[in-house]
This record gives sequence, C-alpha cells and structure tokens, in this order.
Amino acid sequence: PKVRHYKWEVEYMFRSPDCVENIVMGINGQFPGPTIRANIGDTIVVEMINKLSTEGLVIHWHGILQRGTPRADGTASISQCATNPGETFIYRFVVDKAGTYFYHGHLGMQRAAGLYGSLIVDLEEGKKEPFHYDEDINLLLIDSWHKTVQKQEVSLNSNPMHWINEPEEEIPNWDDYDRSKNFTYRILAAIGSPKPPVKSNRRIFLLNTQNHINGSFVKWAINNVSLALPPTPYLAAIRIGLNTTFDQNPPPETFPEDYDIYNPPPNTNTKTGNGVYRFELGEIVDVILQNANTLEDKRSEIHPWHLHGHDFWVLGYGEGKFSAAVDEKKLNLKTPPLRNTVVIFPYGWTAIRFVADNPGGWAFHCHIEPHLHMGMGFVIAEGAHKVGMIPTKALACGGTAKVLIHNPTIK
Ligand code: C2O
Ligand code: CU
Repeated sequence: PKVRHYKWEVEYMFRSPDCVENIVMGINGQFPGPTIRANIGDTIVVEMINKLSTEGLVIHWHGILQRGTPRADGTASISQCATNPGETFIYRFVVDKAGTYFYHGHLGMQRAAGLYGSLIVDLEEGKKEPFHYDEDINLLLIDSWHKTVQKQEVSLNSNPMHWINEPEEEIPNWDDYDRSKNFTYRILAAIGSPKPPVKSNRRIFLLNTQNHINGSFVKWAINNVSLALPPTPYLAAIRIGLNTTFDQNPPPETFPEDYDIYNPPPNTNTKTGNGVYRFELGEIVDVILQNANTLEDKRSEIHPWHLHGHDFWVLGYGEGKFSAAVDEKKLNLKTPPLRNTVVIFPYGWTAIRFVADNPGGWAFHCHIEPHLHMGMGFVIAEGAHKVGMIPTKALACGGTAKVLIHNPTIK
C-alpha cells in the first residue's frame, strides 16, 4: 500500500458551470476539485489550506468508513472544528473498500458552493474486478444555481422562507418517482457480498416531517426534533465527556402510532435539538425511515439519507406507513444491497440495518444540502471510550476550546 499525499488550497473562483458566471469553491484552481485515485489499503493524506477570506472549512470523504479515524471524517460540528481562514488541517485516513466515492465540503452549504470532487478506490494493484467491462468513465453530476450559496442560505433561513427552487439546468424530472422506484427497487446485492445479521437488537422509527419553528420559520424535523448543530464538535465532546455542549437526552426513538402521514402535521410547530442516539459497540440497529406529508396539502418529497462511518443493508421499501404485522415479512434478508445512502420515497418507508461497530460520533442525514441545513439529520455515537487521539486543531472551538486552554495536553 502507498501513502498518497496531496496539498490543497481552497478558494473562491469565477466559473460558468452552466454558462452563467458565478463564484464557486475551487481546489488548487480546479473546479470540480482534483480526482483522488487510490488502491485498497492506501493511506490518503490531504493537507487542506483554507484560502477563503471569511469562512471556515472542512472536507468530508463520503462513503469512506474511517475505521479508527473518526477524527478525519471532515464534518463541522461533528468530527471537528472548522478550519479557520489561513489555517491548515491535515486529513489522514485509509481507504479500505473499492468504490467510486466523492468528497465534499460539510460546513453550511459549501458543497452547493462547488466544493467537491471524485475519490476512486481501485482493488489492490494487480487484482482484477469480478466482472467484465470495456471502459471506465467517471461522471460527476452536479446541481448548479445562479444565486450564490450565501443568498441561498439566507433565503432558506428567512421568514417567509424563499425556497431556492430546482437547479437551473435541464435534467430529467427530479420528481418522476415511478421512474426512480423502478430503478431503485431493482438494486440488489451482488453474489458473494456480505449478508446482514439475521436479527437486530434495536429498532428505531424515524418520522420525517416539515414543520415550523417559533410559529413561522420552515424546518425539517425527525421525530419532531429539528437538528441545530452545536458550536462544539460532538466527537471531541463525547471523547472528553463534556456534558453541557449538547442535549444529554437522546431524541425519541419512535413517533405516535396514530400519526397520519397523509396530512400536514397537526401541530406544525416543532423544536430544535441536538441530542444523540447512542449505541452499544457492536449493537445491531434497524432504522425505519418513515416519510410523511409536508406542510403543504397533498405533498410529500423524496429524501436521500446518508450515514457516515458505516455501510447499511437496505432491507426494503414500502408505500404508506410501516406496519410490523404486514411489512416485517417483506424485508429482504437474503440479497439486501450494502450502501451508505438510500432514499425514502414520498409517503413511503425504507428499512435499513447496520452494525454500530465504528467508535466515534457520526452524522446521519438527508443529503439534499438545504434539507440538512434546515434540520433534517441527527448524530449517532458508539464506543466513545475507544475513540483515539483527536488533533488539537479539531478542538479549537466551542466548549472543547475552553478545555484546551486549561489543559493543553488533552488529546
Ligand atoms: Cu456526503 Cu454528511 O455527507
Ligand atoms: Cu431531504
């Protein structure tokens, strides 16, 4: 295995991705950012230099499990403090599974601002893939808006909310659900891929709703909690045992059984929160993601849910409300695909299973960036006692900064 070293300077630049000039975030003058290509077992070292003049910066390696390196997950408020303008942060992690991944900004809406690129992991050198193909073409599809990301961000947080609308490029209809179901339902595990444990230890039901906060601002909520990320990164807080930097009560693990998913929420007002679902190390967890009606009559939307630090098996999808009596036996335990992102369709449910075997604190959220920004996500944690060293640069904000000042040797 090799160590692959990169030095990246991140800054804003003018580009015209859809023929209209706008500012985008570039890496070493490139947009999209440079492609990382590596082999299984390689170590990637990215020295990230923040050349933005007024914003912090982090980069997340989407789909990389970060076993033993939760500190390198690159999620602001979760794995680390954002790196300040002028400063450098070093990401160092091993890529242990072949695949076509990508990396992207994970602070505010920096991904929408253009901070992303490809990360491709090939098999060990000299090894052949178990299937035949003629050519390998890497496609990176992007959404692009004419409004700057700053304007989008304020639009979403305003009252009344100004929805940012769909990207200004012609693409196939994003809400052609029959087409996407047809495609999605057919994705099953390849022969020989790992099978899920036959039983889970715990099952969590998560209701996805759109709500108001303070009677007006529009947010998304999970079991009636809209995620507002705290200023202190969870990973360090959990590792050091700080108990004032986030809600110590975990969010609810289910929602009222009689909740009517076909109508807007009866009480549209929700609350913000930042509690954590904590798991025993090795616990086998089922999550049933349940979709529902938005604030608008007769409307429900698609959401791609992404889990950090783990792959999960997709046990099944269904229409309407999940019912253990009816749907349990429909779950696919024989050929469920192993993934890190899965959609829930409008008015439908999706069931996944994963093993909480990666010590750390991890995000689980809707990957539509404005939705995460509006609270559609939460954090899970397991094996806090096994989280290793955290670089001091990742601690220099919020409550961990205070600890650091009084105890410069915490690691
Ligand atoms: Cu690709 Cu938390 O995201
Ligand atoms: Cu969403």
